Amino acid sequence: MKVLLVEDEPDLGASIVRKLHQEKYIVDWIQDGDEAWLAMRPIDRSYKQMQQFTSDASHELRTPLAAINATVETILDLEHLSEQEARDTLISIRRQNNRLACLVQDLLLLSRFDQKTQVTDRQPCCLNDLITDLMEEFSALASNADLQISSSLEHPQPLYVLADEDQILRLFSNLIANAIKYTPAGGYVHITLKRSTSDAVIEVKDTGIGILPQEQVRIFDRFYRIDTARSRSSGGSGLGLAIAKAIIEAHKGSIEVQSQLGKGSSFIVRLPASSVEEPLL
Ligand SMILES: Nc1ncnc2c1ncn2[C@@H]1O[C@H](COP(=O)(O)OP(=O)(O)O)[C@@H](O)[C@H]1O
Ligand SMILES: [Mg+2]
Repeated sequence: MKVLLVEDEPDLGASIVRKLHQEKYIVDWIQDGDEAWLAMRPIDRSYKQMQQFTSDASHELRTPLAAINATVETILDLEHLSEQEARDTLISIRRQNNRLACLVQDLLLLSRFDQKTQVTDRQPCCLNDLITDLMEEFSALASNADLQISSSLEHPQPLYVLADEDQILRLFSNLIANAIKYTPAGGYVHITLKRSTSDAVIEVKDTGIGILPQEQVRIFDRFYRIDTARSRSSGGSGLGLAIAKAIIEAHKGSIEVQSQLGKGSSFIVRLPASSVEEPLL
């Protein structure tokens, strides 16, 4: 067997095809150049995505690292340091360090989902209770942002899913945090829980800035942010929806976005409902 060495080129698909031609590997399925390009396109696309991801991840990690470095350098240049200055410096370093730690934790979580090594501990999980808890948790954040947050539980009995409760909590926390973050003061965030045949349907709806149709697929990509400055200033790294999507996929569910620019967005999550209405104790 002959092994083909492909140079480190950004256009991997093109590189493989070129190499096959150079080495006279005109195998049956590469009769014509165009078809070969088509066949290589998925490999090329995933290679480019991998490159983009590595570059985005490095950039995101570099930002807090550079900030820590700059803070330390500034302090080392001072001849005298008051106790207050030392304390302020440590607080600033701690903030950047926490950001770094969250980022690394999120990347590890995504990588475990990719490799299917993330443990998903499935227990009956009551969505009514979960939404009530989330409402309590987010009410202060919403009122600080001058928003109203409300919920309607449209299913008469408690609705259960067989799920990892921590992950489901994370998924809806990400969606609600986004709804609050991307809705201007005076707006509304509303959460609805209902049942549709075999699924539990949870909708997180806001009256916020909205998302253009061409952006609606891309927002689930890792590190993708429509308005980087706005997202970064509110602590976002662009991984929230990628994590939400990975959790939904691990639970065999689906997510849909409906949105109109300037009017608001709605994220609709469907999860297979558990046949148990009450958990078996
Ligand atoms: N409810 C929403 N309304 C408007 N835009 C949103 C909403 N949720 C997400 N987005 C857009 O999708 C992008 C990706 O979201 P996410 O992955 O949670 O990253 P982050 O919030 O850290 O920026 C956000 O930067 C924002 O541009
Ligand atoms: Mg987010």
